[in-house]
This record gives sequence, structure tokens and C-alpha cells, in this order.
Amino acid sequence: MNSEKASIQPTEDEGPITFLYPVGGGGLSLMVDPEAFVKEQVQAIQGEIDGPAIIACSGGVDSTVAAVLAGKAVPQHLTALFVDTGLMRKGEPEQVREIFESMGIELDFVDARDRFFNALEGVTDPEEKRSVIGEEFIRVFEEEARELDAEYLVQGTIAPDWIESGDEARDTIKSHHNVGGLPDEMNLTVVEPLYDLYKDEVRTLARHFDLPVAERQPFPGPGLAIRTLGEVTPKRVEVTREACHIVEEELKTAVEDGDLDEEPWQYFAALLPVQSVGVQGDVRAYGETIVVRAVQSLDGMTAEFTRIPHHVLDRISTRITNRLGDHVNRVTYDVTNKPPGTVEWE
Ligand code: XMP
Repeated sequence: MNSEKASIQPTEDEGPITFLYPVGGGGLSLMVDPEAFVKEQVQAIQGEIDGPAIIACSGGVDSTVAAVLAGKAVPQHLTALFVDTGLMRKGEPEQVREIFESMGIELDFVDARDRFFNALEGVTDPEEKRSVIGEEFIRVFEEEARELDAEYLVQGTIAPDWIESGDEARDTIKSHHNVGGLPDEMNLTVVEPLYDLYKDEVRTLARHFDLPVAERQPFPGPGLAIRTLGEVTPKRVEVTREACHIVEEELKTAVEDGDLDEEPWQYFAALLPVQSVGVQGDVRAYGETIVVRAVQSLDGMTAEFTRIPHHVLDRISTRITNRLGDHVNRVTYDVTNKPPGTVEWE
């Protein structure tokens, strides 16, 4: 792997943002040899980070593997942060705390829920949401970094993040919050040890480290904001969160019952700002729509919708409309592959 420095987006005052790992190149990388990769990246990180650094941990496999690598390389410099955006899944902040405790890594919790919701007020365009969230994350990191005198930000960016975020040679499919969603001006040097890897390779590393998150399904950095189409209010996000939770529970049950061979690669619900007429008891209802999404994939670059048995979909639909009937009166299932769709709806 080429570990040349590549500088992009120089800013006038703060100097260049330095990426430690190659920009460009691309193509499907070969499966990593975990031991060789760890040795190489630990050395690369040690060569670059010579002072306090922060790493933002979401509890996902990418940022957790990045945290473990950076923790091996520069434990004396590293502070791990968890930013509660209010856009996480049900119970996730508590689960992440437990996961990191079990790995012996101390996490600083930052409650940023109000500021994310305030920043997102009135924002409905998907790319604008991503850029507002990317910027808000960086502002939170900068504040925390100031307190710690940190100059470095370690991120778990992987290849599909920057491929889909586009550059001069590629169209922007969607700006992943940790790449295209970053503000032009920022005061931190970004270190991205997983930059060239694909999801399955990161999982290989996670298994190599025996991490409890190795098999967790992917969850996007901008969280439930991009599964709540239209305006991102606390109330609408709560509806999305509960619907996602029901989908997760029911598909796990489907595996236990033998209705599905294995859990899909990714599965969730999204709230659509599409209202339709329904009936509750004998009263007319006019509510929004939930779409259920479940896909098979290897690396997220292509995906096929999962063939979920109809009786499982029936259970999901009934539970969602019973539980969220005040807000939702229709449930649909997405039967689009990627391409032409993408996995997330925004
Ligand atoms: P799409 O929707 O682009 O998703 O087909 C492919 C995979 O990437 C995840 N995803 C993201 N992950 N930051 C992330 O860390 C993001 O901004 C982001 N957007 C999408 C998505 O959940 C799927 O696993």
C-alpha cells in the first residue's frame, strides 16, 4: 500500500489538511493481510502523530478498528470521543459505552443533541443535510481538541466513503459526512488509516482484533438524519428510530425462527414525508410513510434487496402501524437493487 502523503484543500490561514494515506488510486483492493497491515499502519501513524490526537468513535466497525490501530500506535496521545448527535439508533449511546468499556478503551461522551437539531432546522436537501452534519461534527471535534491541545483527528474513513463523495474525476453520488461533508476550513490534521480498505477488509481486521463490533451492520455517520427524509425534527427522528428498532428486532427473530438464513447485510427503516389516507378504527387518518429496506452486499458498492418472506413483512408492518399509528399509516418495502438505487434513501 502506498502511504505517500497527499495534501488536499489547502486553507489560507490554517495550512493544508493532510491526509496520511493516498488519495485516488482506487479500484477494488485485495484482502488485507491483517498482521502486515497493522504493522505498517502502526508505524505510519507513529511517524505522523507527535502530539495529542482525538478519534471520534461511533461504535461502528470502521471507527472502532481505527481507534484500536491508533491506540496501538500512539496510546499516550489519543483521546476517544463519542458524540451523541441525537441521531443514533435506539439504545446506541449506552451500547457503545459498554462496548468500549469491554475493550478497555475510555470514551469521552459529548452531548451534542441540541446543537445538531438546531443546525438541521429547516434543512431538507440531502446533500445540505450531509454538509451541515459534517460541519457540526468538525466544530464539536475542534472544541474538544482545543481543550486537549490536540492537532490531529483520526477518522475511520474507508474507500467507498471517498469514492461516493466524488472528486474532479468522479460524480458525487452522496457526500459521506466524513469526506465531502467536511468544511473547507478546519484546524485539524486528518489521519485516516483505513482509507484504502473496503468494508469486508475492515471486518477482517475487526475479527483479527477480536472486536465485539466485528459483525455489526453498517450505520451511516449522519445517522437517522438521512433516514428521516424531509425535515429532521426530534419528533420525526424518534419515529424513524422506533421503526428501525422494530425492523431490527423482527429480522433477528426471523433468523432465529429459520424464516431467513442469516441477517441481511444491512436493514433498517426510513421515514418518508409522503402522506396518505388511511383508516384507524372507523376514523380517517392522514399519516406519513415508512419504507423498510434490507439488502445483501459485500462492500456497500453494489447491493441486492433481500427477499424477506411476506409473513415477516406483515409482522413488521403491523408492529410499525400499531406502535407509530399517530404518525405513520402506511408501510412499504423497497425492492430496488444498487444500482440503480443506493442503500440509503438520501
Ligand atoms: P449508499 O447509500 O451510498 O450506502 O449506497 C453505502 C453504505 O455506506 C453507508 N453510508 C455512509 N456511511 N457516512 C458513513 O459512514 C456516510 O455519510 C454514509 N452514507 C451512506 C450506508 O449506510 C451503506 O452501508
